[in-house]
Amino acid sequence: MVAYIVLVLGLVLNGAVLSNGGKTSTFVRKVEKTIDMPLDSDVFRVPPGYNAPQQVHITQGDHIGKAVIVSWVTVDEPAGSSKVLYWSENSKQKKLAEGKLVTYRFFNYTSGYIHHCTITDLKFNTKYYYVVGIGHTERKFWFITPPEVGPDVSYTFGLIGDIGQTFDSNKTLTHYELNPQKGQTVLFVGDLSYADKYPNHDNVRWDTCGRFVERSVAYQPWIWTAGNHEIDFAPEIGETEPFKPYTKRYPVPYEASRSTAPFWYSIKRASAYIIVLASYSAYGKYTPQYIWLRDELPKVNRSETPWLIVLMHAPWYNSYNDHYMEGESMRVMFEPWFVKYKVDVVFSGHVHAYERSERVSNIAYSIVNGKCIPVRDQSAPVYITIGDGGNIEGLATNMSEPQPPYSAYRESSFGHAIFDIKNRTHAYYSWHRNEDRYAVEADSMWFFNRQ
Ligand SMILES: *[C@@H]1O[C@H](CO)[C@@H](O)[C@H](O)[C@H]1NC(C)=O
Ligand SMILES: *[C@@H]1O[C@H](CO)[C@@H](O)[C@H](O)[C@H]1NC(C)=O
Ligand SMILES: *[C@@H]1O[C@H](CO)[C@@H](O)[C@H](O)[C@H]1NC(C)=O
Ligand SMILES: *[C@@H]1O[C@H](CO)[C@@H](O)[C@H](O)[C@H]1NC(C)=O
Ligand SMILES: *[C@@H]1O[C@H](CO)[C@@H](O)[C@H](O)[C@H]1NC(C)=O
Ligand SMILES: [Fe+2]
Repeated sequence: MVAYIVLVLGLVLNGAVLSNGGKTSTFVRKVEKTIDMPLDSDVFRVPPGYNAPQQVHITQGDHIGKAVIVSWVTVDEPAGSSKVLYWSENSKQKKLAEGKLVTYRFFNYTSGYIHHCTITDLKFNTKYYYVVGIGHTERKFWFITPPEVGPDVSYTFGLIGDIGQTFDSNKTLTHYELNPQKGQTVLFVGDLSYADKYPNHDNVRWDTCGRFVERSVAYQPWIWTAGNHEIDFAPEIGETEPFKPYTKRYPVPYEASRSTAPFWYSIKRASAYIIVLASYSAYGKYTPQYIWLRDELPKVNRSETPWLIVLMHAPWYNSYNDHYMEGESMRVMFEPWFVKYKVDVVFSGHVHAYERSERVSNIAYSIVNGKCIPVRDQSAPVYITIGDGGNIEGLATNMSEPQPPYSAYRESSFGHAIFDIKNRTHAYYSWHRNEDRYAVEADSMWFFNRQ
């Protein structure tokens, strides 16, 4: 009897506590070890042919979406192949752009010939074909440029983070590709290859990862954010240049937004203004990133791009015990600006699970007043952790209890999300776990633009 009363009381108390916070999903999956796909997997296959381009990937190449950076790797010989031949679907006229070539060494690894070629002056909203490997084995791909920047342009972004190259990573990518909502561009929130989990950061795993994601990123741009697994800082083997493999392989158009480093920059795409921040570059007062962001936010014209999206690797609002508080020092620096400029949504990775916040801010604090609790704030962004791409480190399952009031929904499953902008006032957001069929939404919400 006593035990029964205690049990009932426990349930009542538990219910009361939970109702303060949001929902912790009760979805049950088998938590298994995530393992990298072996080197001889189908997804890592080297394309046939002499000096055939591999690891083909594209990203936006300017500030507004009229340029594309095409990158690829050849391994047999460097000569004569940094060119891209391209033409629009409804034109017979083919154009040739000349790129450049880089290589690098990492401990005892020597990279292939990494080609980067920016093609410019593209027409908006147009399908282009492009060919790389000219002179040897040619491979042909295509992409569709975004519509001209403007407030009522609909556009669909995919969200993927911390993907790695495990069997689960492959499921995430497949689910993204087969999602009937059809993402047009991926906003990638950092941690790509996890090559640094291998002895000497075996950079062969940068190559395999590049071949694995080609099936998506050769056809639609991925917007890159640097995560901690991109740092590759390994003084014990003489590798002291941070982000070396990442920056050699994944160029971004940072100069177009007057940034001075590839780790923080912005682009406009359709009706969205996207700001990429660097969790692993200095952001204290007077640092280059701080000054850039201070000057950048006032430039965002919400009559032109009503949707303001921020990407960063380490989340500011995270109720998992993994990486708890790691985003805190950046939050302290930048959160007042996000509230002032009414950022719509912040996407992060790093924590290998899913979480969506209420609109909250925590900016009242001063040493004197001691106010340090997040409060509901309609000017604040929604914070979404989407570090659930499926990498070798596995799922984050350890949540702080009870769920804090700022946390609206959290679940420890792999998956991806879609941010579907309908017009200047409405955007539909949904999160999709890998265990479900492709069209199933495990979490969703409408965004109403507050401008
Ligand atoms: C690099 O060094 C490691 C450890 O000494 C060795 O196992 C590996 O085969 C070497 N790789 C190359 C490409 O020389
Ligand atoms: C990866 O996913 C694709 C598409 O579903 C499938 O064809 C392929 O066999 C998978 N490869 C591995 C190693 O799981
Ligand atoms: C902001 O964008 C609107 C719509 O494109 C335009 O009419 C207006 O001139 C822009 N404002 C500034 C300050 O550039
Ligand atoms: C969960 O995290 C808490 C806080 O870091 C820690 O004390 C606890 O041991 C962790 N639990 C497990 C099962 O790892
Ligand atoms: C914007 O999109 C929403 C959702 O699709 C729709 O209900 C609304 O009518 C649209 N507004 C305009 C002005 O078209
Ligand atoms: Fe990370």
